[in-house]
Amino acid sequence: MTRSIPRLDIMVAYSCNISCRGCISLSDFARNGIARLDDVTAWITHWSTMLEPKVVAVFGGEPCLHPELMEICGRIRKAWPSTTIRLITNGYLLKNFDSAAWFDFEPFEMQVSMHRADHRSIIDQAIKNILVTRKGWQVKVSEDPQDHCQISWQLDNFKIYKSMFKDFVVPFQYKDDKILPWMSDPAEAHAICGSPNTPILYKGRLYKCPAVANVMDITGKNWFDYEPCEDAAHLDKFVAGIGVPESVCGQCPNRSQAVVINHLDKINVVVKQKSLG
Ligand SMILES: C[S@@+](CC[C@H](N)C(=O)[O-])C[C@H]1O[C@@H](n2cnc3c(N)ncnc32)[C@H](O)[C@@H]1O
Ligand code: SF4
Repeated sequence: MTRSIPRLDIMVAYSCNISCRGCISLSDFARNGIARLDDVTAWITHWSTMLEPKVVAVFGGEPCLHPELMEICGRIRKAWPSTTIRLITNGYLLKNFDSAAWFDFEPFEMQVSMHRADHRSIIDQAIKNILVTRKGWQVKVSEDPQDHCQISWQLDNFKIYKSMFKDFVVPFQYKDDKILPWMSDPAEAHAICGSPNTPILYKGRLYKCPAVANVMDITGKNWFDYEPCEDAAHLDKFVAGIGVPESVCGQCPNRSQAVVINHLDKINVVVKQKSLG
């Protein structure tokens, strides 16, 4: 039996071309490498027999650092023929890909995350390079300043949108140069969470969210005896936990503990020079 879920992220690159304080993928720590195409293929072949996500998000790190990104999108399409594939990218490296080729993967969405306010024109140009390859876009501008989806362009089953999260809540405690859990009340932490319902396929296993997967991987610690889902026997429990607080959410802060980073301020976001040249 396959279980329908709203969204599944897949970690295809651990490294990022930018370093953001408070990132749920810990891009401000030493992260290197990408997931091998063969591994990604094996993971999605395995899980696609059990899960039917409405959206499969290609996630990182920065997915555009992956030299076989287009091939990965093709393999996802093969594994899930009708799901929406969503590329989540910071946009700087889109210039390295054929702008017209993304249309091969419809239904397809491209979430272009706005990171530094002073780099808006660079990202706008990256989006424009894709828009000019087709005519007839429907443009929608959000009237709600809190809406992370600020503006979108839609053409049939293809959508591009600019996404902006101004405030990042750091999903762990950083003390004496160490990553530590807050040991907060899980429901209180989950109530202010930046990614409350986004399970992720990370190195072949399913985790509650990117923050849990990345923190466990980097620290090698398991403070909450959290068990990522590896097989069908544990899948119902995993699916039931999507979008609800679990003990592992005690890793994250409650409102009074939270360290909030203004993510549009260049002081908190370092962009590696190669991405700009
Ligand atoms: C972790 S990034 C990875 C994909 C890609 N590198 C990018 O920048 O979009 C995915 C999204 O998570 C958001 N994000 C990262 N850390 C966050 C946090 N602590 N709270 C809320 N959103 C966060 C980013 O703004 C971005 O839109
Ligand atoms: S552990 Fe829970 S509160 Fe923390 S980022 Fe993940 S889902 Fe959100």
